[in-house]
Amino acid sequence: MTAQLDTSRADGAPQIVPRPAAVATGPILEGRTLTKSYPLGETTVDALRGVSLSVAAGEFVALMGPSGSGKSTLLQLLGGLDQPTSGEVILEGEVISQLSDDRATRLRRDRTGFVFQSFNLIPLLDVSENVALPFTIAGQDTSRGEIAERIRDVIELVDLTGKEHHKPDQLSAGEQQRVAVARALVTRPALLFADEPTGNLDYTTGTEILDALWRSCEERHQTIVLVTHDSKAAAYADRVLVVRDGTILDTIELGRRRDHDAATLIGRLAQLGL
Ligand SMILES: Nc1ncnc2c1ncn2[C@@H]1O[C@H](COP(=O)(O)OP(=O)(O)OP(=O)(O)O)[C@@H](O)[C@H]1O
Ligand SMILES: [Mg+2]
Repeated sequence: MTAQLDTSRADGAPQIVPRPAAVATGPILEGRTLTKSYPLGETTVDALRGVSLSVAAGEFVALMGPSGSGKSTLLQLLGGLDQPTSGEVILEGEVISQLSDDRATRLRRDRTGFVFQSFNLIPLLDVSENVALPFTIAGQDTSRGEIAERIRDVIELVDLTGKEHHKPDQLSAGEQQRVAVARALVTRPALLFADEPTGNLDYTTGTEILDALWRSCEERHQTIVLVTHDSKAAAYADRVLVVRDGTILDTIELGRRRDHDAATLIGRLAQLGL
């Protein structure tokens, strides 16, 4: 049986709990023959033309491809932020399009986290308060018990311990994005979706974000789907899906590698003419 480390006990002691069978045996996320067409004046734009993919629990998958190839569209469908024109998204065994709006919203809120290119932090709140936001919005007490423990824990994961009381304008861009990553992870989502999270950052700062994502995957078995056009970022993934013209052109298996060396990936992309 597959097990995952659960640190949700109030005393913080790690506890091994079995994964539900559906998660242990099947993919955590599936897209089946997804299409998406946007109306544009008299015509339509076919942003996705039949994409199927499957992501295993604990996997780090990158979607790479040129601008306009359909990466963000695909991420939004997979994360339930938008509906496909046809095809299905299955998240933890549930067909999203068959759920009521309420249930779909709850599934997205409880089981997914998002990080975007812009950090979207609240300027008046400090680091801890920004990270605590999902709980605050739900009306929960964030000052004690398991929730306070989770907030501390995720701030440590993104390496911001000691900066809990800094406001966003007292942080570097990379630190701000790490707050956004912590906020996305604090609810322990089954899936983390990230769309160009390093797009506004220089190389070194971008690396800090990618390291934080990778640690969450490696140490906490967080499943991640990362959109990027940067091969150095994609090289953190276990598997890279190359998106072009609304389809998946190729899959590049990299495996879990501590060095995140991009040479193999760059070589394969060159063979594909990218
Ligand atoms: N709301 C929309 N209305 C019309 N067309 C859209 C809309 N959103 C996306 N598109 C089109 O769909 C295609 C795919 O867009 P998408 O944003 O998924 O690309 P992308 O791969 O994420 O690109 P980038 O790397 O520039 O972010 C593009 O041709 C885009 O112009
Ligand atoms: Mg995009």
